[in-house]
Amino acid sequence: MKNHTNVIIIGAGAAGLMCAALAAAGGCSVRVLDHANKAGKKILMSGGGRCNFTNYDIQPERYLGHNPHFCKSALSRYTQWDFIALVDKHGVAWHEKKDGQLFCDNKSSDILNLLLSECDQAGVDIQLDTSIQAVAAEPAGGYRLQTSSQQYHCDALVIATGGPSIPTLGASGFGYQVARQFGLAVYEPVAALVPFTLTSQLKQLSSELSGNACRVDVSCHGKHFLEDMLFTHRGLSGPAMLQISSYWQPGDSLTINLLPEADAAVELRSAQHTTPKQLVKTWLGQRLTQKIAECWLAAVGFAADQPLSALNGAQMDDLAQRIHHWQVKPAGTEGYRTAEVALGGVDTDELSSKTLESKNHQGLYFIGEVVDVTGHLGGFNFQWAWSSAAAAAEHL
Ligand code: FDA
Repeated sequence: MKNHTNVIIIGAGAAGLMCAALAAAGGCSVRVLDHANKAGKKILMSGGGRCNFTNYDIQPERYLGHNPHFCKSALSRYTQWDFIALVDKHGVAWHEKKDGQLFCDNKSSDILNLLLSECDQAGVDIQLDTSIQAVAAEPAGGYRLQTSSQQYHCDALVIATGGPSIPTLGASGFGYQVARQFGLAVYEPVAALVPFTLTSQLKQLSSELSGNACRVDVSCHGKHFLEDMLFTHRGLSGPAMLQISSYWQPGDSLTINLLPEADAAVELRSAQHTTPKQLVKTWLGQRLTQKIAECWLAAVGFAADQPLSALNGAQMDDLAQRIHHWQVKPAGTEGYRTAEVALGGVDTDELSSKTLESKNHQGLYFIGEVVDVTGHLGGFNFQWAWSSAAAAAEHL
């Protein structure tokens, strides 16, 4: 049949390219279609331009989804060590930044080039600038695609179109649309790993402190992260806020511990004894930064210019309580414009955890971010893309 390949993969991103390379190396004829003018745009943008491509400590607990067990099979069969071996095979220089997070020494394009080179060697046909207008199952098995250029046929169709975050990078809800067309349930996507916006009074604080950061322990719904928090013109960002955003729901307050490694009540009493003339703002400024301390004390309405000797026990306990349990109710998040990923996606009950194939539609696969599996910040999302892609490729 004209324009027939064993496999068509829609989406030339992390998961799609990985799956294409492995399936083609395994003997399949593979065509990849993408509506963007360039493959792997999110890879290029990732990790601040250095692509945090995996993590030493990949654990199922670092993933969110309605079925927390679903990711286990794929993650255990194509591991971070497999991807590190691939990176090493291509001579890409990398380093551990912190907490097991592995980044390229040079540029994210090293990872994209690695994937494109694997695809090229295996004979994958990648067609960019191609919009998919219709997808249909063939009566005798396989799938038919109508694109902006022509019609294609395949035995197996892999949907690797990712999530809706950052539409300017080619993101779309196309994968959810295909899932629904074939009767698969989809959990509504929600922006995650995303900065918070604040309401007026706190927005003024964050705007004044824009660019300043401090280490906090932030918690919400029983989850907590000990990471840096960054004040921005619009609200709160930095790894601590991005991580907790995946657990936050509209209307929730965040509890922010501004001195996670100290006991403020004990330290205040000790400082009152040793340096009674020290001002409250100086004491706090030595533990945060002077600017953060002054602006924050003003925002929470605690007199910053009084000496520690002026505080009674109840006032010291009150200040310590506010420092360790600062309650912040975000107005919202910045949404898909800046979110790194989306929670939700294709219901994993509809898919085999071993192969990522639809349980009800033979030859239809969903891999990567389009599936209801979302990782923490730190290389976990790319590892899911590699692992889910490998699981599907093994079965194609
Ligand atoms: P991905 O988004 O990579 O690819 C989807 C592809 O499908 C795109 O090429 C797109 O053009 C195409 N497509 C979409 N709709 C289509 C349609 N209708 N027709 C045809 N093609 C279509 N993760 C991590 O682990 N470490 C990191 O450092 C970062 N950093 C990071 C920074 C930024 C700014 C963002 C936005 C995201 C990250 N991430 C990350 C997350 C990571 O980029 C993401 O989880 C993976 O790219 C998901 O891989 P997929 O292949 O599933 O989708």
